[in-house]
Amino acid sequence: MSWNPTTSLAPISRLWRTLAFRLTAGYALAGLLLVVFATASLYLVLANELEKSTALFLADKVHVLRTLLLERPDDEDGLHEEVELESAARRYEQFYIRVLDAHGKQLLMTPGMASQLDLSQLTAQTRNRPDRPMRLKGKDGRSFRIISTSAQVGSPPRSTDQLEIAVDVSQKEELLARYRFWFWSILFASSIIFPWVGYQIARHGIRPVEEVATTARHISSTNLRERILPDGYPFELAVLANTFNQMLDRLEESFEQIAKFSTDIAHDLRTPVNNIRGEAEVALARERTSGEYRAVIESCLEESERLSDLIGDLLFLARAESPLLHLRQEQVDVGALLSTVREYYEASAAEGEISLSTNLAGPIVARLDRSLMQRAINNLVANALAHTPPGGTVMLSTDIDPSTLRIEVTDTGVGIPAEALPKVFDRFFRVDSSRSHNSGGTGLGLAIVRSIAVLHGGAVEIASRPGQGTQVTIQIPVSA
Ligand SMILES: Nc1ncnc2c1ncn2[C@@H]1O[C@H](COP(=O)(O)OP(=O)(O)OP(=O)(O)O)[C@@H](O)[C@H]1O
Ligand SMILES: [Mg+2]
Repeated sequence: MSWNPTTSLAPISRLWRTLAFRLTAGYALAGLLLVVFATASLYLVLANELEKSTALFLADKVHVLRTLLLERPDDEDGLHEEVELESAARRYEQFYIRVLDAHGKQLLMTPGMASQLDLSQLTAQTRNRPDRPMRLKGKDGRSFRIISTSAQVGSPPRSTDQLEIAVDVSQKEELLARYRFWFWSILFASSIIFPWVGYQIARHGIRPVEEVATTARHISSTNLRERILPDGYPFELAVLANTFNQMLDRLEESFEQIAKFSTDIAHDLRTPVNNIRGEAEVALARERTSGEYRAVIESCLEESERLSDLIGDLLFLARAESPLLHLRQEQVDVGALLSTVREYYEASAAEGEISLSTNLAGPIVARLDRSLMQRAINNLVANALAHTPPGGTVMLSTDIDPSTLRIEVTDTGVGIPAEALPKVFDRFFRVDSSRSHNSGGTGLGLAIVRSIAVLHGGAVEIASRPGQGTQVTIQIPVSA
């Protein structure tokens, strides 16, 4: 079987894409780097200090011997004590000294030096680089620092002696070796502990995210009830959970609206269809005169007109929400438009004994979709006339400031109760549904007005006082 790098690496790249893994890797790496940095720098400082103290020790010995040879060249006892006795008294950090004359003949040596060190190697190694401490391995494997230097004998100088000093640093090296052992042990332990702790922290931290995901998985159009309880969540994730809950609230509301909307459509379509069917059935129950047939057909025609209007309105609303709907905008004389609407409704206003008038703030021309705007104003006037008792007035007026065109329809009718006002632009909403049903209203008129205003980039507002009247204002932004 051949090795395919892409499939073999897939689990790793999948793992790398998990947040828990990334956080764990981050924590572990940071922790390990910190441990390595801290212990390694301590080790280097310690090793450096030990090396320095050895160098100082050697320099000190060199100084003592030189002073002795320079100032008291004949004090053999003093030299003897310094070279032979003092080292023997030590247990740790033992040192060895050898004094040679100018011809390389050995004059004095610490006892045991020859058994510890290869003297010829010592001389050979130090000859090239005098006055500098160097490393040397002893005969039984112990570590030494050695130095070689010359010293004047007497003042004025009689001759020059050669000093060779070696100090045993095995103890210090063992200390460093123990330190290294602990360094690797700690590093090994850290490489297990840090990822484990990191993983626990990461898991704990992202648990709320997983809960949000689980809740989201359970959500469907039939189950929008589930919510996340953000108790004990860290602040940022509590905000996320709350935002998510709010989104679910909105979704639930929209779904409920859609469900209600569908029921309303079905109900409103059924009424005219039932009427047509009922009348046809009654008409066919027995023989009728041609006059009676005619009446039934006329009634059916009326119902189907209602049906077709309703379907037209629904189609319009559906299309108005699609981003593909384009306005056919043109320069429209708003005053003339209002006059057209007034003329259209004049007869029915007169019939209801309502005075219908227009009030224009000078000539206004604006870029509008003429037929849509006329439809919106028609809806408003139809509403006003339907809800204004005889003797009342309905007024169409316009107003413009540099950036906004306002078209207002004001009536002195029955008004709308405050609690119903926020809902009047909803589809199928009717303040008194039974009453409006009889008068043929379906509750789509104001929804259509709002869609038309929004299509023009504007908005619509309503203000009303029960018993006093209603004012609806279409606001359209216009360029100067
Ligand atoms: N000028 C008004 N005065 C009093 N109530 C109003 C007025 N305009 C609208 N309403 C109330 O708001 C409801 C919604 O109006 P909308 O125009 O959307 O529907 P409709 O007139 O009932 O039906 P449609 O316009 O679709 O034939 C109406 O049923 C009515 O109760
Ligand atoms: Mg209406």
